[in-house]
Amino acid sequence: MTLRSLRLQLRFLLPLLATLIVASYLAVPLMDQVTLRWFSRDLDSRGALLANALSDSVVEALATERPERLRALLDRTAQDERVLALALCSPQGQLLLASDRFPSGLGCDSSRQRAADGQARLSVAGGTVHVGVQDIRGAGTELLARLVLLHDLSFIERRSQDTRNYLIVLIAALGLVMALITLVVSQLSWRGWVKGTRALLRGEGVLSPLLAAQPELAPFAADLRARLRDMEDEYRRAQGPDAVWTAERLRTLLRTQLSGDQVIVVSNREPYIHERTADGIVVKRPASGLVTAVEPVMRACSGTWVAHGSGSADREVVDKHDRVRVPPGQDDYWLRRIWLTEEEEQGYYYGFANEGMWPLCHVAHVRPVFRESDWAAYRAVNQRFADAVVAEARSEDPVVLVQDYHFALLPAMIREKLPQATILTFWHIPWPNPESFGICPWRREILQGMLGSTILGFHTRYHCKNFIETVDRYLEARIEHEHSTISFHEDDTLVESYPISIEWPGAAEVSSWAPVADCRLRVIERLGLPAAVCLAVGVDRFDYTKGILERLNAVERLLEKWPSWIGRFVFVQVAAPTRSALDEYRSFQERIDRVTARINQRFGRDGYQPVHLLAQHHEHDAVMELFRAADICVVTSLHDGMNLVCKEFVAARDDLQGVLILSRFAGAARELSEALIVNPYHVEETANALNQAATMPAAEQRERMASLRSTVHEFNVFRWAGRMLSDAGRWRLRARIEARVRSHQQPG
Ligand code: G6P
Repeated sequence: MTLRSLRLQLRFLLPLLATLIVASYLAVPLMDQVTLRWFSRDLDSRGALLANALSDSVVEALATERPERLRALLDRTAQDERVLALALCSPQGQLLLASDRFPSGLGCDSSRQRAADGQARLSVAGGTVHVGVQDIRGAGTELLARLVLLHDLSFIERRSQDTRNYLIVLIAALGLVMALITLVVSQLSWRGWVKGTRALLRGEGVLSPLLAAQPELAPFAADLRARLRDMEDEYRRAQGPDAVWTAERLRTLLRTQLSGDQVIVVSNREPYIHERTADGIVVKRPASGLVTAVEPVMRACSGTWVAHGSGSADREVVDKHDRVRVPPGQDDYWLRRIWLTEEEEQGYYYGFANEGMWPLCHVAHVRPVFRESDWAAYRAVNQRFADAVVAEARSEDPVVLVQDYHFALLPAMIREKLPQATILTFWHIPWPNPESFGICPWRREILQGMLGSTILGFHTRYHCKNFIETVDRYLEARIEHEHSTISFHEDDTLVESYPISIEWPGAAEVSSWAPVADCRLRVIERLGLPAAVCLAVGVDRFDYTKGILERLNAVERLLEKWPSWIGRFVFVQVAAPTRSALDEYRSFQERIDRVTARINQRFGRDGYQPVHLLAQHHEHDAVMELFRAADICVVTSLHDGMNLVCKEFVAARDDLQGVLILSRFAGAARELSEALIVNPYHVEETANALNQAATMPAAEQRERMASLRSTVHEFNVFRWAGRMLSDAGRWRLRARIEARVRSHQQPG
């Protein structure tokens, strides 16, 4: 149980305990009255007994007129610890005799009056007393005298105090026991109860016939359902993450579970690009989800990142081993650059990776192209990277993190040279179904190459399932579905889903952000937008898989369907140029230009343009400013492994405002269910979502955003890497134990 959930439950239990204590204080006077009534009755019957016992002696003393005997009798009786004083009165109400401590002010008549009126409790000099009056009668039952008895009540007060203390302790103990039981039961049964009740409300239980018979109960059920949802959300939020993954936790894991083994990352795109400009060399961060995710992990783990050196000034800053320390100024890890010839880049990167594998895996209605020459270049470049990894390895069992579809052959190539290496391959894009993958002429080689990995990671279970089915279809491999492992040529590969994420911004970064209002002002000024504009943004690489055309169609439909938005709604699309050497990309970019121009012509006015297409690379800070300025962020990928843009938007909105529209075909839709989830192919649905987002009340935005933020905060990129590395740690341990067992078994 987390501290937060304990605090939440105490919030309910403390008032309960306080109520119990107050109730016990209120109950005590009532109890006092009841016990007093019982005791008074006891005292009266005790007084009657006493009067009976004394009556003969009193009658005799009165008859013989021997007052001294009578007095001695009264004094003796008054020595009883429960009797404070006695007096004898004539039937006419005259005080005949009284013991020592009988109060002088208390007359016979007033005593009788009190006893008769039920006001027998009286405070006197010796304490509180109960006044009892008993008749003394002669043989002929005529009234001879009245005996006034003052019973000491102090013992009743003592008993009452004791009872009160017991009662308070008892109620407090009961309260504590109840609180403990509530805590335990609520922990055990909350989820089950909510599930059960929801099932009932959905009509899967006894409530269904009831709702069917009495439809007027439906609004009540809907209300109850909403309340339950709120309670569940509150509970989930209060539970909070078990322990948030941080860079430090990842480092500790590396030290403890992987005994500080060397980490080598391999990717095509490098995390820092040195470019020569008129002002000298500048360092750029590429627009790549892969780099966004893996870079913070490398900063945490150190080690070496092997990547294609693609910047115009990249060669100028490396040492003689083609390495440079990055990030510039922080020098956390090594970037080892690999140089490719133009032909290599053309065949391996543009050709096989981006004209073949990319459309093959995305199934976004662009035909994959497979050329023999591209395949040859792909194999050769994979081998060059494999050789570089082997050269960088300081031990025979480094941890190698192979990234993405550029390096499907790399795992088996590394395994051949470094059989002890732990190879974690992460596929950042979707994996298609076996039929679609079957298009690839080299499908068996690709699968065999990937199965050189110790662990093969995808974003979702769905992609893992597709991969396992593909292997099943095209290779002779042993598949253990229960453990999600594939054995091929004596090597085992674990196929697992690890949803990738971003680094959650730390306090230093957050404090460097300008306030939301300032960001908005700056963006409005820079783009010349109307002051009270509803601002929607999209930030993507200029890629046909991102659904940019579909979202433009939706913006057009919005303005058509709700003309009141004309002049008040603006959509800003940042589209970072990418792979522009390819025809498919160039023609796509031209098409987007044309559609943008058409919409602007149709709905634009003087000083108003509904779509702003910014087809340039934007650095991280500029993107953050845009996210903070926006009312809506639109992510409409036609197919996307995860998509990190939506997670960055959520991380940027510490003001809990802004609405996320998210494609159901992005892996992120499985985690970020509080976004407005759309089918981007459905123009009407996406236009409706734009309108819903533009009119969403601030309170609803806050609720959705708070929930999205807690998900992204918990499921951050250190968790992604941490889960993969701990699985690798377990795997290595198992392999070492197996090796030891084998060596013991060998004779001699
Ligand atoms: C996707 C891929 C990455 C790639 C990025 C940018 O996110 O999964 O591997 O780096 O696109 O593409 P580019 O071709 O410019 O590296």
